[in-house]
Amino acid sequence: MKVVTTKKELISYINDFRKKGKTIGLVPTMGALHEGHLSLVRECKKNTDITVVSIFVNPTQFNDPEDLKRYPRTPEQDISLLNTVDCDLVFLPTVEEIYPEKDIRKFNFGYLENIMEGARRPGHFNGVGQVVSRLFDIVTPDKAFFGMKDFQQIAIIKNMVQQLNYKIDIVSCPIIREASGLALSSRNMLLDEEHKKNAPHIYATLKKARNLVAQMSVDDLKKWITDQIDSNPYLKTEYVEIVDNTTLQIIQNWNEKNDRVVCVAVHAGKIRLIDNIVL
Ligand code: PAJ
Repeated sequence: MKVVTTKKELISYINDFRKKGKTIGLVPTMGALHEGHLSLVRECKKNTDITVVSIFVNPTQFNDPEDLKRYPRTPEQDISLLNTVDCDLVFLPTVEEIYPEKDIRKFNFGYLENIMEGARRPGHFNGVGQVVSRLFDIVTPDKAFFGMKDFQQIAIIKNMVQQLNYKIDIVSCPIIREASGLALSSRNMLLDEEHKKNAPHIYATLKKARNLVAQMSVDDLKKWITDQIDSNPYLKTEYVEIVDNTTLQIIQNWNEKNDRVVCVAVHAGKIRLIDNIVL
């Protein structure tokens, strides 16, 4: 496995692979890797010849400077984990390497950036668009792999691919959870013991909600989920939304045919967790 920190080195490896007719897959990450990330790497290995993982804590997508400061950084451990899954190339750039100059581009994701994470984290998806488009330009992958854990992020990336005319397949991968049901997240390592013990209540609630669809209106179910999560003294919901799986339009009643996804953001002390489930 090669570990590179500059665009120049990375592009030279990519060019060599291209000359040999290899297909390239990209797994963008912010590091502090866990099984969720590794599942994307495994999927990438199955679908492409060469697997590139980027590790970059992207400052432009953090709307809260405190969140950026405390975001976990574990590069050495990340590299050994990537070795265990036979990753081919790791790109670990500095901020200057990705942003030699300030990125002033403003994406217009329309409706997609005005709901849920977009509404609560101003500028977040613009930052995601900035960094992912730069990574796409540098790595020029055939396919890129993203987790359903960040459900809205996938819709944003697919929208960006259309807007910028990238010829890149966006592959969505399922959420990987701990045995407790808690969705794996780099932020979980910031939870203290009590919050960690209580956080699985989020997914337990989402699973129960699945069985209540026939009995309740959409609004009543959202209220039921909120009350159920908030009944745990260690958790406080920020939002509960039920949206169409593909358009992300907010569901008003159960008549609509497409799959629906319940998305939640929950505060566990100082740490903000997101999760979702397909109903
Ligand atoms: P990060 O939070 O490190 O996540 C990298 C990728 O791993 C994302 O596609 C995310 O959805 C996926 N992932 C995280 N936890 C997962 C889990 N439990 N199961 C399955 N997949 C999981 O998302 C980002 O970084 C950044 O926004 C990024 C796209 C890298 C741009 O900076």
